[in-house]
This record gives sequence, C-alpha cells and structure tokens, in this order.
Amino acid sequence: MSLSIGIHDLSFATTEFVLPHTALAGHNGTEIGKYHVGIGQESMSVPAADEDIVTLGAAAAAPVVARHGSDLIRTVVFATESSIDQAKSAGVYVHSLLGLPSATRVVELKQACYGATAALQFAIGLVRRDPGQQVLVVASDVSRYDLDSPGEATQGAAAVAILVSADPALVRVEDPSGLFTADVMDFWRPNYRDTALVDGQESIAAYLQAVEGVWKDYTEQGGHALEDFAAFCYHQPFTKMAHKAHRHLLDYCGHDAGKEVVARAVAGTTAYNAVIGNSYTASMYLGLAALLDQADDLAGRPVGFLSYGSGSVAEFFAGTVVAGYREHLRTRAHREAIGRRRVVDYAAYRGLHERAFPTDGGDHCTPAQTTGPFRLAGISGHKRIYQAR
Ligand code: CAA
Repeated sequence: MSLSIGIHDLSFATTEFVLPHTALAGHNGTEIGKYHVGIGQESMSVPAADEDIVTLGAAAAAPVVARHGSDLIRTVVFATESSIDQAKSAGVYVHSLLGLPSATRVVELKQACYGATAALQFAIGLVRRDPGQQVLVVASDVSRYDLDSPGEATQGAAAVAILVSADPALVRVEDPSGLFTADVMDFWRPNYRDTALVDGQESIAAYLQAVEGVWKDYTEQGGHALEDFAAFCYHQPFTKMAHKAHRHLLDYCGHDAGKEVVARAVAGTTAYNAVIGNSYTASMYLGLAALLDQADDLAGRPVGFLSYGSGSVAEFFAGTVVAGYREHLRTRAHREAIGRRRVVDYAAYRGLHERAFPTDGGDHCTPAQTTGPFRLAGISGHKRIYQAR
C-alpha cells in the first residue's frame, strides 16, 4: 500500500482592515448587484500599513507551529506572487519570526496563483523521500490592481499555512495530477510595477482553457470520474469564477451543467473568499478551509482541486478527507480572523492603497496599525524590519 501523505494542518490569517463592496460601489457608482451577484464578492481584506506577505504568512503559520512544534519541520516553502524582494525568500523572515531551527531549508516559489500547489506537490515529494519529516507550506499574497480599474473589486489579501506530513489528519493528496501549461498574457506584474496588469476577459478565457486541459490530462492519467467527487475546490479570483469553471467542466464532459448542480459542487468552498477577496496563492486553500469548516461530514470523500495560475499553469488533483478530520479544524480561529477586521471607509482604503509599497527606497517607520501578532516596523538601509508582539 502506498504511503498516505497530505495536509496535516491548515490555518489562515487575513488583514487588519476590510472594505465592504458597498463602499466601493458608493465611490464608483457601480450597481451593487454586479459585485454581490455578478462576481460574488461582499468585501475585500485590506492590509494595514504595517502588514505584508511576511506578517500575514507568519500569523497563519504561528498556530501550526504552536500545535505541532518545529522538530520535524525540515523545509519551509513560501509561495507568493506579490514578492517583497527579488533575492531573499520571504520565508526566511517567517522562519525567523517563528523561531524555527537553523537546520531548515527555506525557499520562495512563484508561478502566479498556482505557486502554492507547486509547493504542496514539492512538499509531498520531500515527505515521500523521508516520511519522518514535515514541510511547512506558506502561501501569502496581497492582491492589488490599479485604483478605478475593473480588477479593483477583486482585490484581497490572506495567507494560508499548510503542514504537509505522512499520515495526515485532514486531507490525503492523491495521484495522479492533471497538468496544463500555456504561454498566455492574461495577468502579469512586471518587476517595475506594484499593481498587476490584467486582460480581464482574456484571463477568464485562459482559466477555462486550463480547466479543459487539466481535466483531459487527469482522465488520461487514470483519475477519478467526475461523479466520484463530493465537492470541487477551485482557485477563486472572485467566487463566481468557481461557478463559471465548474459549469465549463460539466459542459466539457457532456454533463448537466444546471445552476443548482454547479452550486451544489462549489458553494461550500466560497464563504471565506467572498469576504476576503482574491488572495492569489492562498485562494484555493481558503476554499478548502471553508469546505472543511462547514457542517457536512466529508470523511472518506474525495474533493477535486483545480489550481490555476495566470501565465499560465494549472493542476487538477484529488484529495480525500480523512476520518476524524473535524477534531483538527480551526473553524473558530478562522471565523475570528474574518470577524475581527476593522471596517474602513473608501477614503481610508484609498489612502492605504496609495501609500503601500513605497518605491523610493528611503528609510521610514511604518505607522502602528495592525493588532496582529507580527508587524513590519519600517525600512532602514533598504532592509525590512519586522517585529513580533
Ligand atoms: N447584477 C448582477 N450581475 C451583474 C450586474 C448587476 N447589476 N452587472 C453586471 N453583472 C454581471 C455581468 O453580467 C458579469 O457576469 P458574467 O461574467 O456571468 O457575464 C459579471 O457581473 C461581471 O461583469 P463584467 O464582466 O462586465 O465586469 P468587468 O468588465 O468589470 O470585469 C473582471 C470583471 C474581468 C472579473 C474584472 O474584475 C477583472 O479584470 N478582474 C481581475 C482578473 C481576474 O480576476 N480574472 C479571473 C481569471 S484569472 C485568475 O484566476 C488568476 C487571478 O487570480 C488573477
């Protein structure tokens, strides 16, 4: 029998502030139905001036390390597409903030929103080689588009920490995977920009093309049939995209793609993303958190995961929910992370957006805003200074 490897623990963190879509609609005159129904978003997480992918990532991972200790963690893989340095892995700062042992390998991975799934698969490979070790995967992103652009309504920010181990307590990740890569310019962020560029409709079309590509490969590799899955967890740049993607998959497979059939398969995965917004690499795993945290018992049932990263790379795989998983969930902490955010008005959000990512390289102290466990205190001599509370 092959070794069972997968997600042993999962924890997420999000920002200090939240902007309701009603406030954005009040500013730009959009009919609120477009946000609430058309793209399926209620609010977006907004980072405080002293929060970034490192503070969010460390806040997500701290409870995992507190519960399991760090003795077995030999590798930290940090996945992001909103990187803060071209050379140093953001994971090294997280490693330091969490006080992990020096005998650890730490690396940062990038391929748009797909990066966390690459990290998960690499982690599984490491654990397969040495089942005694655990790998900490941290997926952390701040999604930023230009103010007053169509993408603005799909911003958000969050981090997910995943502990990968043998004999996991939550989800056993299965072979095979369906894979797909295509060279497309649907969404990208050149090094000289701090907001993403996107061709909105092209990006949706590229995502749907990837849905077909991964499913074709998945079936050729001998994966499950569609009807075996209890639910489908998609990358959610906005929650309506999960519905679009699943409808497309059902159509492609010649199945009934009625509204209710689609909703039954994906609705359990959207609760957190609808109020957090796009968290890029973390998004699909927030979908998993929402699914596991909801009431229905999924023990023994396979869930389908479709991870999409613009550019583009995608992967489909199955994960079977492990018996007894509910004892290991962090449902209350997850709901608190969402509920504790302070609502900002449009002007405050705009001020935060404009002040983020100072590019002059000068020394500065960041205003103390976050009440989270870690903060970016400032920049001195081009070095980022982090503090733990
Ligand atoms: N009531 C209900 N629905 C309404 C409405 C109203 N009053 N007004 C409009 N709508 C509906 C529209 O009919 C449309 O629905 P369908 O998609 O089902 O046709 C939906 O609201 C959105 O309307 P538009 O397409 O007109 O909206 P838009 O031009 O402002 O763009 C967007 C939407 C392309 C998603 C844009 O927000 C965007 O560019 N987002 C960033 C890119 C993105 O998220 N792409 C997704 C795939 S790429 C990816 O997944 C990687 C990643 O993370 C970025």
